[in-house]
Amino acid sequence: MKKKLLIAILLLPLLAAVIGLVVLYHLPLDLEDRAPSQPIAFSHRQHVGEMAIDCRFCHRSVDVSAIAGIPDVDLCRACHLFIAVDRPEITRLAEFWQQNQPIPWERLYRIPDHTYFPHMMHLNAGLECGGCHGAVETMAVTRRVVATKMGWCLNCHREHGASIDCWTCHR
Ligand code: HEC
Ligand code: HEC
Ligand code: HEC
Ligand code: HEC
Ligand code: HEC
Repeated sequence: MKKKLLIAILLLPLLAAVIGLVVLYHLPLDLEDRAPSQPIAFSHRQHVGEMAIDCRFCHRSVDVSAIAGIPDVDLCRACHLFIAVDRPEITRLAEFWQQNQPIPWERLYRIPDHTYFPHMMHLNAGLECGGCHGAVETMAVTRRVVATKMGWCLNCHREHGASIDCWTCHR
């Protein structure tokens, strides 16, 4: 009798740990960083919200290609050769173009290599940037608003009657 009690007491922490892990697994947690700090403090709120620069001015290939494209430093330079040149962030920006270095932006949205996401087909179907990326024009620091998991893709494909065939996205 005593032995059984002892075993039960010893097993209790293990049981608690298992339950803990199961609960943790089912909580809608997303443990990846949602708003990483960037090499230059670029603000969509300032450039899009306040200055009303169009998304497509910077993310040029979004309507015609799978990838939207992150603007390279030449595009920033076109304005910042003249604008706010005395600010520390712009001095640092100038160092990138002087050294001919791309800015190592931290990526927020990325699906694995074995999956395929074509931006142009989604925009042709009438979807908008904000439907997937949130109100980017209000973000001083760009943040990821959705973990791009397969379930997310499939839910919307079912809603819109788009293909849910495995080979559509896995190639
Ligand atoms: C003046 C140029 C510019 C404009 C205009 C602009 N962006 Fe960006 N965008 C950037 C830069 C630079 C980055 C990389 C730095 C960052 O993540 O903030 C970026 C990053 C992003 C990202 C994150 C990509 C990733 O996976 O890391 C999304 C999503 C995005 N932009 C959407 C938009 C949308 C939607 C609009 C219009 C509402 C827009 N952008 C307008 C320059 C711009
Ligand atoms: C169409 C012109 C234009 C383009 C293109 C542009 N910017 Fe700007 N940017 C501005 C203006 C205007 C301001 C506001 C300056 C002020 O506060 O007086 C600004 C402000 C900034 C600031 C804040 C400066 C500070 O500390 O006050 C940063 C950082 C910045 N831009 C980075 C970038 C980057 C990185 C790119 C390229 C992806 C870029 N900008 C492209 C016009 C532009
Ligand atoms: C149906 C959802 C959806 C819509 C609509 C959408 N995106 Fe995306 N976006 C994604 C996904 C998913 C990724 C990650 C793709 C990858 O890793 O290949 C992404 C990645 C990006 C990136 C970073 C990688 C790249 O492709 O250069 C930028 C920038 C971006 N989107 C901007 C935009 C802009 C601007 C619009 C509107 C004109 C837009 N997106 C519309 C889902 C969407
Ligand atoms: C907000 C809704 C939405 C989300 C989220 C979404 N899609 Fe789509 N997707 C669509 C629609 C609508 C179409 C267009 C269907 C058409 O034109 O027949 C489409 C088309 C596609 C196509 C082309 C299909 C074909 O017939 O060739 C691919 C590939 C695709 N999506 C992959 C993805 C992947 C991968 C994800 C997740 C990372 C994703 N989509 C997330 C709505 C969505
Ligand atoms: C609409 C797009 C889409 C369709 C359709 C789709 N998948 Fe996926 N799938 C994804 C994306 C995006 C990921 C990567 C994100 C993630 O791990 O959830 C993924 C991940 C996976 C993974 C996990 C692989 C890993 O990286 O760990 C498996 C297994 C998988 N899919 C199998 C399937 C099978 C089987 C089908 C057909 C019944 C299917 N998928 C249909 C978009 C899709």
